[in-house]
Amino acid sequence: MNVAFFSTKKYDQASFLTVNEGRHHLRFLEPHLTAETAALAKDSDAVCVFVNDTVDAEVLEELARLGVRFIALRCAGFNNVDLAAAARLGIGVGRVPAYSPYAVAEHTVALMLTLNRQIHRAYNRIREGNFSLDGLLGFDFHGRTVGLIGSGKIGAITAKILLGLGCQVIAYDPFPNAECTALGVEFVELDHLFRTAHIISLHCPLTPENHHLISSDALSKMRDGVMIINTSRGALIDTLAVIEALKSGRVGYLGLDVYEEEGDLFFEDLSDQIIADDIFTRLLTFPNVLITGHQAFFTRNALDNIAATTIANLTEFETSGRCANTPPVK
Ligand code: NAI
Repeated sequence: MNVAFFSTKKYDQASFLTVNEGRHHLRFLEPHLTAETAALAKDSDAVCVFVNDTVDAEVLEELARLGVRFIALRCAGFNNVDLAAAARLGIGVGRVPAYSPYAVAEHTVALMLTLNRQIHRAYNRIREGNFSLDGLLGFDFHGRTVGLIGSGKIGAITAKILLGLGCQVIAYDPFPNAECTALGVEFVELDHLFRTAHIISLHCPLTPENHHLISSDALSKMRDGVMIINTSRGALIDTLAVIEALKSGRVGYLGLDVYEEEGDLFFEDLSDQIIADDIFTRLLTFPNVLITGHQAFFTRNALDNIAATTIANLTEFETSGRCANTPPVK
């Protein structure tokens, strides 16, 4: 198939060209997919997109007009795709349901441990010859209660690592994962998790129902000084509400790998530009906020798996008109 890849970086090209071995004709494009750039998919049978591409009804209609028959998501989340519109237009959709849940779980725990022991601040202090320990006081993870929201592949691995550190792990999930129960994770109501956990980590997909799940109301129920970690999707957190909670001390630590308005920022080198997003820049002023730019997935293993599954999805759709990795439509 002729495939137009949007939002591509050098590392995407390298992994896809290795796995593809000439099977499909791949055209790598740098721009995000939007209504303005959709025309670049001319002469393509499929487009391949990532987390910050827009695949709404307007874009899908333009793609259908150009003859595109398949959207290959090179990620797990599919909140940026209007699945109902795709179905209506007869466009198939495939995703990569799991590429390295270990990568994301390990990054989640890295954010937790870094924030707790202030490694990000210690790194700078030592380089400036400041060996003072004031402000670097941490706590033992052993014995702390961690609340996981979502107990799927990433949640389960995160639970396993945290249990290894001696944490008590509780979780909320409308579909509790039996593997977690067997490990010793206790499933609780969301309210109970908010009120009990010292550390709360998000591992659920973003859906219209859980947009701003971490709202000012949810934050008001949490322990003073709670740690919140989000490696799932930015809009699960109401950023303005969390900024107020950081100012009041309700939130003691915030670790983000995702941000609700990340589409204009992440994956680009903007170091010589003025960042216009005042909410994001406010977050950067807090010493107890640690942000990474959607890199939790970014391991060699994950890139290889993403390329292999995406190429297999394209081949399956080309040969059968179907894709086993179609996201579930509600
Ligand atoms: P998964 O599909 O294996 O598990 C998701 C779990 O969330 C399921 O058990 C489901 O029942 C549960 N869930 C659904 N709605 C919920 C709600 N409202 N509250 C609580 N639980 C809910 O997905 P996986 O592989 O564990 O990934 C989780 C999320 O991680 C993805 O949806 C994606 O947004 C994010 N992700 C982030 C990456 C990064 O680089 N930062 C990379 C890969 C995934």
